[in-house]
Amino acid sequence: MNCLVGQARAHSNIALIKYWGKIDSELHIPQNNSLSLTQDAFYTDTKVTFSNDLKEDEFYLNYDKQDKNEVDKISRFIDIFRVIAKTKLNCIVETHNSMPSAAGFGSSASAYAALTKALNDALNLNLEDRELSILARRGSGSACRSIYPGLVEWQQGNSNETSFAVPFDNADFPICTITMALSGARKKFSSRKGMQISVDTSPYYSAWKEYSKKSLDDIKKAIKDKNITKIGEIAEQNALAMHSLTITAQPSFFYFNEDTLKAINAVHNLRDQGYALHFTIDAGPNIVIICDFADANQIKELLKLEFPTKDLIISRPGPGVKSLESWNY
Ligand code: DP6
Repeated sequence: MNCLVGQARAHSNIALIKYWGKIDSELHIPQNNSLSLTQDAFYTDTKVTFSNDLKEDEFYLNYDKQDKNEVDKISRFIDIFRVIAKTKLNCIVETHNSMPSAAGFGSSASAYAALTKALNDALNLNLEDRELSILARRGSGSACRSIYPGLVEWQQGNSNETSFAVPFDNADFPICTITMALSGARKKFSSRKGMQISVDTSPYYSAWKEYSKKSLDDIKKAIKDKNITKIGEIAEQNALAMHSLTITAQPSFFYFNEDTLKAINAVHNLRDQGYALHFTIDAGPNIVIICDFADANQIKELLKLEFPTKDLIISRPGPGVKSLESWNY
């Protein structure tokens, strides 16, 4: 038997300036640039094995064999690599997430970034990071940012070749996040569907595009000044603007649950007491706090008083995608 194996780890990223809407939904070319922080606490490990013994592709997520629907999705993505490598071999994909899937933890970002690197290695493609970013984007837009460490900008471009992420800042200042795992349930509305409805129906969509350009300029300046409070302030406003697109869409929908609102209130109360913290929220109910690492433990303990049964996970800026020497699953 002839096997080609590749294995890689990619970390998730949390967008501080959100990607919410596409100009090309096939290629995932976005309507605006976005900027994210790669997180060290959350990652996906993926192993791919190509073999001429396999009759079809197989996909295992956290040891669970996935159904045809999921396999078909991933097969279409692997096809892009099969074309580049000029092979027809089938493949087994084994993936392990350190966080719940499809609950707004950015697991699709780390998943497609890890898969891209593992496929690159297995098929000996030797692609540069920029190519990896372009390919990861084809799986899920936000995955293009998980190729890089620290603070990363996705430059929207206007074609497959021109839409990719670039490293913006290595985040060597004490910025950190605290993810409040309020719900691990799968979301009803995927980001993909949610952003499409927002583009098509929210009367505020064009305002969002203008506004997100300004948010991006402002946050870049705050990052260069290493001003964590300012970064948090801009990220929080940007997230709320994104979520207002869902509320004003037709049909209206939202990703918050009761705990999300309770957590937003908790952040407001702590700010009133003089603590420096802000939040962002992706397409799910979980809140991600942005604060200085020096304050993180204290803020976590204070939030824990209100959410004693929930996991609160502190994350520092994380590394870019890497090949794995060993496979420990
Ligand atoms: C709210 O990257 O999951 O997290 O490209 O359709 O796969 P697809 O969408 P996805 O959307 C992420 C949306 C977001 C904001 C962000 O990460 O920028």
